[in-house]
Amino acid sequence: MKEQIQSADGKLGILIPGLGAVATTMIAGVIAVNKGLSQPIGSLTQMGSIRLGKRTENRYPLIREFVPLADLDQIAFGGWDIYTDNVFEAATHAKVLDAGLLHAIKPELEAIVPMKAVFDKSYVKNLDGKNVKKADTKYELAQAVMEDIQNFKEAHDCNRVVIVWCGSTEKYIEESAVHESIESFEEGLRNNDPAISPSMIYAYAALKLGVPFANGAPNLTCDIPAMIQLAKETETPIGGKDFKTGQTLMKTILAPGLSARALGIRGWFSTNILGNRDGLVLDDPDNFKTKEVSKLSVLDDILRPDINPALYGDLYHKVRINYYPPHGDNKESWDNIDIFGWLGYAMQIKINFLCRDSILAAPVVLDLALFMDLAKRANMTGIQEWLSFYFKSPQTAPGLRPEHDIFKQLIKLQNTLRHIMGEDLITHLGLDYYQDLVEAL
Ligand SMILES: NC(=O)c1ccc[n+]([C@@H]2O[C@H](COP(=O)([O-])OP(=O)(O)OC[C@H]3O[C@@H](n4cnc5c(N)ncnc54)[C@H](O)[C@@H]3O)[C@@H](O)[C@H]2O)c1
Repeated sequence: MKEQIQSADGKLGILIPGLGAVATTMIAGVIAVNKGLSQPIGSLTQMGSIRLGKRTENRYPLIREFVPLADLDQIAFGGWDIYTDNVFEAATHAKVLDAGLLHAIKPELEAIVPMKAVFDKSYVKNLDGKNVKKADTKYELAQAVMEDIQNFKEAHDCNRVVIVWCGSTEKYIEESAVHESIESFEEGLRNNDPAISPSMIYAYAALKLGVPFANGAPNLTCDIPAMIQLAKETETPIGGKDFKTGQTLMKTILAPGLSARALGIRGWFSTNILGNRDGLVLDDPDNFKTKEVSKLSVLDDILRPDINPALYGDLYHKVRINYYPPHGDNKESWDNIDIFGWLGYAMQIKINFLCRDSILAAPVVLDLALFMDLAKRANMTGIQEWLSFYFKSPQTAPGLRPEHDIFKQLIKLQNTLRHIMGEDLITHLGLDYYQDLVEAL
């Protein structure tokens, strides 16, 4: 398989619907790293290493030296937004990065100007922007996005393009008849079916062109049969949903640990306050519902109350998000966890996570873009479950339970890399060499 992976030479275009706080923090970060101003902390592709072979072999290359990934200085950035702000302006408004850092890379950021977006206010009530495409049908809008992608590719001399959705969270919708097949979806595009959201139009356009698409928001987007079929037909990687960055990241680190020790959990109350534009959008109940469903799913899948009713059968799980402007992008989350141990004795854990939303999300966007591009070059098409590591609500093959445990997700990601590079998979059993070491004493 290793020999069949196409080279990462040439330029990679990373196109982003939604040039807001997360996207601009990622773009500015990559440019700053390329200029030697900073380091890509939090990015597994850039900073992480991977063990190969037996522990006795001491082989721990950096992931970026092990698998062929696009180099950071071979990336061209672009995207769409409903506002006309260029990336310098948008990053300044987002107030995530220091003004000093942004000024050091101002010309590069100013050069990235958003293309006109596909937008429908009924999906994001709390936003209003003028930089929006106009057309009679959703089908025409999809064609216009395809043109944008092709024009960008030519203008920036890119060999390949990937798309990562960093747009706002859309209102909650469920899968319906129009999403069932490519035919019904295309019919729906022509008839302006209201159940086709803007993010689906971008995803459709990407998949038609064979451009990998990852979804960083909890929207349905590419998690519908029509998109799964289209991805298969055009041999394109897809993945989602919802970047796993803050409170849910902590949850999927902690819950596997408690469950590993067979400790019981009675209640898990999670609340957040944040004041960025994402918080404003999530202040609308229809948009919050999309996020809530995504955030709530993780505990059941990790703890499996159906298999462990005595430990987790009565677990009460509640998630709240409150818009609180004074905190801006510096989200604060509290978790109160009511656990119980030996003979049912009650204990508590409190977590106060003072995080920076976009600082945590930026490396996830970068890694997803680079790994989706690798998947495409390695001929891995359709749903990329090995990238579940990065998502709150990982897309899986229909009928399959998602894996939320971050440690199992990491093992799957690493073993996938070993597999495509022709290295032995690591089971952590070690029997084949452990005995030899003991006998050599
Ligand atoms: N920051 C995190 O830790 C995190 C974690 C998980 C998911 N997310 C999701 O990532 C997304 C981006 O977060 P953010 O903090 O950058 O939000 P943001 O509000 O700063 O940026 C989103 C941008 O998308 C634009 N937009 C909305 N609809 C659009 C459309 N149809 N086409 C093009 N642009 C559109 C908005 O104008 C805005 O500029 C949100 O959906 C958020 O829920 C963020």
